Amino acid sequence: MPVITDIEDLHRIYRRRAPRMFYDYTESGSWTEQTFRANKSDFSEILFRQRVAVDMSNRTTASRMIGQDAAMPVALAPVGLTGMQCADGEIKAARAAEKFGVPYTLSTMSICSIEDVAEHTEKPFWLQVYTLKDDDFMQRLFDRARDAKCSAAVITVDLQVLGQRHKDIKNGLSAPPKLTAKSVANMVTKVQWGLGMLGTKRRFFGNIVGHAKGVSDPSSLSSWTSEAFDEALDWDRIRQFRKMWDGPLIIKGIIDPRDAKEALNVGADAIVVSNHGGRQLDGALSSIRALPLIMDAVGDRIEVHLDSGIRSGQDVLKALALGATGTYIGRAYVYGLGAMGEAGVTRALEIIHRELDVSMAFCGHRDIRGVDRDILMVPKGFSDGWE
Ligand SMILES: Cc1cc2nc3c(=O)[nH]c(=O)nc-3n(C[C@H](O)[C@H](O)[C@H](O)COP(=O)(O)O)c2cc1C
Repeated sequence: MPVITDIEDLHRIYRRRAPRMFYDYTESGSWTEQTFRANKSDFSEILFRQRVAVDMSNRTTASRMIGQDAAMPVALAPVGLTGMQCADGEIKAARAAEKFGVPYTLSTMSICSIEDVAEHTEKPFWLQVYTLKDDDFMQRLFDRARDAKCSAAVITVDLQVLGQRHKDIKNGLSAPPKLTAKSVANMVTKVQWGLGMLGTKRRFFGNIVGHAKGVSDPSSLSSWTSEAFDEALDWDRIRQFRKMWDGPLIIKGIIDPRDAKEALNVGADAIVVSNHGGRQLDGALSSIRALPLIMDAVGDRIEVHLDSGIRSGQDVLKALALGATGTYIGRAYVYGLGAMGEAGVTRALEIIHRELDVSMAFCGHRDIRGVDRDILMVPKGFSDGWE
């Protein structure tokens, strides 16, 4: 067994073990991938101020996101097709999250269904909801979330249209995977993955097939998907969703302060500063650069979370110091899942927790909730000065 010391180690193992089509699906940004890269590299422009000879004993990263306890302020982000990275992937990731004590967010476009994940976990998870045209389907999705005791809904607002990822088109990405000579030749080399897939019945979009009107089998799914997403989405439509779901609501995919104000007016409990991990508008600002602008606009009136580009506990600490109450990891846990299943997600969480805890100590803090901007050196013009 290789020694795993950071998220990049998990990434390398994942790359070897997952079929190329699903690795590429994870590891792509849209078009030139400028924003995908900036999400990560912009974190390294921010530096810490190290303190010494302050009491660093008895530290805690315990925190709260939307009033719910978390062992650290890091949730697992919604990731579509997680169950294609590893058999029963959503159940495994949700279990790792609940054992660790952090929130898990199930994607609408998951392989394991809401009911399936609820059945195999004990603690409530969050459901991510895409904004679709079909009112009945949307209402049923919220009702199913309520019946499964989901403790929050996360509405993703940055996917009315789809950013183009070149590799997905070239690979003919689908679930279950299309069996072409090339994809089969690649998949037969991924023995562990293949055995897992043969041993599970969960290979289709579990929240859609059998639930959406006219989608009773996987072959009718692609025509449904191309019709289902609502290009006409506006804030009035999001207000309708607010009425369909009376539990805690998080609006995900905000990168502009004007939209942050709109989300506040809708009555959301939190917003996620996110550019979808660089998968939507290529050339958009990285999340970490957008965060101070959004904190200035709404930070004193709504809980602000952040995702996109987090690969370490140090990244989490920087986001918290700039004012975020919580963060999410996407690829960082998918690498763990594809590398080693549930144990790999746990390993990813352990790595990030350890990095967060020790870096917090170096900055002279013992309680993550007390961390603020004072621990950072942020270059002049990091977020300002844009015309
Ligand atoms: C493979 C993949 C699939 C994703 N699927 C969804 C999804 O179904 N719903 C959603 O709201 N966001 C989705 N996202 C975006 C993530 O929730 C999150 O915003 C992003 O991964 C954060 O960036 P990071 O991967 O750099 O941490 C996906 C991201 C990836 C990498």
